[in-house]
Formats: sequence, C-alpha cells, structure tokens
Amino acid sequence: MGSTAVEFKNAATSTLLELVKNRRTYYGLKGESPISDDAIERIVQDSVLHVPSSFNTQTSRVVLLLKEEHQKVWDIAIKAIEGLVAAGHVPKESFETSTKPKLESFRAAYGTVLFFVDYESLAPIKEKFAIYADKFDPFALESNAMSQYFVWLALESEGFGANLQHYSPLIDEEIAKTWGLPASWKLDAQLVFGTPTSEPGEKAVRSY
Ligand SMILES: Cc1cc2nc3c(=O)[nH]c(=O)nc-3n(C[C@H](O)[C@H](O)[C@H](O)COP(=O)(O)O)c2cc1C
Repeated sequence: MGSTAVEFKNAATSTLLELVKNRRTYYGLKGESPISDDAIERIVQDSVLHVPSSFNTQTSRVVLLLKEEHQKVWDIAIKAIEGLVAAGHVPKESFETSTKPKLESFRAAYGTVLFFVDYESLAPIKEKFAIYADKFDPFALESNAMSQYFVWLALESEGFGANLQHYSPLIDEEIAKTWGLPASWKLDAQLVFGTPTSEPGEKAVRSY
C-alpha cells in the first residue's frame, strides 16, 4: 500500500503527507530556535483552538515554556527522580549514567509544551449524556493527543526537532505549583523541542 504514484487535487495534500512522513523523534536538541517565539505561540494556540474535541467540549489546556522557563521543567524532573534515588526506589548508578543525562538533554532544548486535560470540565456533559459518560475521559485524551501531534508536526515543519515525554505523575505537583495552574488540569505529555543537533535513529516501517 502507498507505493503507487497518485495525484492530489490540492498540492497542500502532498505537502501535508510529506510532513507526516518526515516527522520524527529527535533527541539531540539545542536551545536555539529557527523561528520567532510569536510563531511558536501561534502554532500552540491554533492546536488548542482548532483541533477537534468530542461534542466540542474543548478540554485541552497547554502551557508553552521557552528558555529558562522550559529548563525549570527538567530541573523539576531531575529533582523528582533524585528523590526516588534517595528513597532507594531508583538505582543511583542507572540514574547517573542514563536517566540524568537524558533529562539534561531535554533541558538543553529550546522549549517544552505541557499538554493537560481538564477532565473536571466534563462533569455537566457526562450528566447530560449519561449513556456516554464513560466515553468522555478517553475522548478528551484522544483530542489532546491530536493537539500534541499537530504541534509536533508544525514545529518540525518550521525546522525544529521534537520528542514527546511522559513524566506524569512524578512532576505534576511541582509543575502546578511553579506555574500556578488550576488543580483540575491533569498533565498528560511534555513535548520537548529545539534545533536538532543529530539525526533521528533508524526506524522500521511495517507494511501490511
Ligand atoms: C502516545 C505516544 C507516547 C510516547 N511516549 C514517549 C515517551 O514517553 N518517551 C519518548 O522518548 N518517546 C515517546 N514516544 C515517541 C515514540 O517512541 C516514537 O514516536 C516512535 O518510536 C516512532 O519514532 P518516530 O517518532 O521517530 O517516528 C511516544 C509516542 C507516542 C505516539
């Protein structure tokens, strides 16, 4: 599938598919940006405003952090895992040789987008459509993932590299405290981005 040449009516479709094919996970990132901070903000804003959500519930929340503010996220993660090391839950050796350098590599990037879901805001609609009540939380997460993907794609389209991380719930409390976020915002993912310093790894694509 997908190997025959096809023609699209709209050239933007080919461009879009090229972006989809070229999006990768970049771990080697530095703290420089190929575009203005305003352009980054526009990408993130549009991802929240225009990505769909079930029943148009608009449950996604994002926080865009750049430079020193971005570095704070990864200082929080390092501190949280240092706490686990001190408590004997994580071996010191693997933290020093693997986890800490990885977290420091995220810190060396330009920015992080924090993606949250406001599940509490779904209470009225769960009551209204009781038959679907158990569907709304997964729908909200699916919508959030769409925003994550869109931002990842758009940032890489502009010359960034990015990788998607999940350090929740370890960092949740400190993140909420540091940026004064509402208690109802549940952190899902952290998208780290910066100017690439290395190519992504090899990736096998399965064909069915
Ligand atoms: C839902 C989801 C969760 C992921 N979580 C992580 C993660 O926690 N840490 C990480 O380094 N990569 C994470 N990734 C990245 C995947 O490992 C990566 O996308 C996959 O290996 C394919 O590589 P590619 O992104 O270069 O195409 C995640 C990707 C998805 C879609």
